[in-house]
Amino acid sequence: MRKFVLVLFLLLIAWAFFPGFTIFQESEYSLKNLAPENYSYVEAEGCSSCKGEENQFMHRAVGVDRTSGVPVLDKRGWLSSVHSRSQSHGDRINTACARCHAPKAKGATRNKEEAKPIPKGTWQGVTCGACHPASLERSKRKSLVINYASGTDPTQTENYIFRNRSNGKEMNALCRFCHHESHDLLIEAMQNTVESGALRCIDCHMAAYAVTDQHVERFHNFKVAANIPNSCSGGIGRSMSCHDKGSREWFERKLPFVKGPRQEWSSD
Ligand code: HEC
Ligand code: HEC
Ligand code: HEC
Ligand code: HEC
Repeated sequence: MRKFVLVLFLLLIAWAFFPGFTIFQESEYSLKNLAPENYSYVEAEGCSSCKGEENQFMHRAVGVDRTSGVPVLDKRGWLSSVHSRSQSHGDRINTACARCHAPKAKGATRNKEEAKPIPKGTWQGVTCGACHPASLERSKRKSLVINYASGTDPTQTENYIFRNRSNGKEMNALCRFCHHESHDLLIEAMQNTVESGALRCIDCHMAAYAVTDQHVERFHNFKVAANIPNSCSGGIGRSMSCHDKGSREWFERKLPFVKGPRQEWSSD
């Protein structure tokens, strides 16, 4: 028995130091512990701490699954995306880069001449408020999907571009607001469908994995290959069914043709 307790104890210690650990004690769980050095996940933290089972869809978007009662890192969420690790350029960061890389960082500016170093610990990444009007009063939200003008007052309506969620072109403009350059969709028909808005960035990059009466839950890790089959089949909750008969192998064979080399998008 003592041996068992000792082994258990050692396993616990090993687990606590293993960087990829996924289970937290509720009392110890905090996004503060998950945020890399110099980051502040203050907004995402707010979205993952609202109480009540009816809010668990929000926690999953952040990347925390509480369905079992114990919080577990949910790789479908934002915490597993590059958007939550957008300081990939290390020391060269400044407030002008933050315009796209961390729109809610302190001092983020659209003016390159005003570029200054970022105060440590204020980098939020491409946080929830880059795409959702988190800081705007409910009654002022004309849409739940927005682009935010970095460096401006996030409580004011005029600092948002509200995106109509039923308009494919607007949903693509949401991403192109920062992604001026992206992969070429090598298949011409596919490029045309993206231009026209019939196919949206989010159909592949934010496929749905659950649909309830109130919400469509989408992968917030923004990955495609990792989310097969949802990301190729048109997902659930969308009338368009793209490749619902394709096998996993078929999808994986096609991926290189979809991604292609980076190119300037032809138009906006
Ligand atoms: C506020 C600006 C902004 C918006 C809006 C935005 N992104 Fe990003 N995205 C970035 C930045 C910056 C990076 C790169 C972060 C880095 O590598 O440092 C990135 C990275 C990514 C990556 C990962 C790239 C890689 O190298 O693996 C994907 C995929 C992606 N974005 C998809 C999307 C999609 C889809 C949308 C629209 C729903 C979107 N983004 C909207 C700024 C934005
Ligand atoms: C107009 C928006 C925008 C601005 C301003 C911007 N970036 Fe980016 N940056 C992006 C996006 C979007 C990506 C992701 C591109 C992708 O993976 O296709 C990115 C990716 C990167 C990457 C990762 C490239 C890679 O291959 O992984 C680096 C490094 C980078 N940016 C550095 C900077 C620096 C330094 C600045 C400021 C001097 C800056 N960026 C300003 C939008 C921007
Ligand atoms: C790069 C843009 C982007 C970022 C960053 C982002 N989201 Fe989203 N989010 C979207 C888009 C696009 C949708 C899908 C809207 C639709 O289905 O019409 C969405 C949908 C959602 C939904 C479901 C809404 C519903 O009721 O159907 C929730 C909840 C959500 N996001 C929460 C978050 C949280 C919390 C964060 C931060 C951890 C976050 N999002 C970060 C783009 C983003
Ligand atoms: C038909 C599906 C599809 C559509 C539509 C699509 N993408 Fe992608 N995208 C992919 C695949 C596949 C990859 C490879 C990475 C992966 O598997 O997650 C990728 C990779 C990326 C990357 C990472 C770039 C790199 O070189 O690693 C970015 C950034 C990106 N897409 C942005 C966008 C934006 C912005 C749009 C909309 C204008 C868009 N994508 C539309 C399938 C798609």
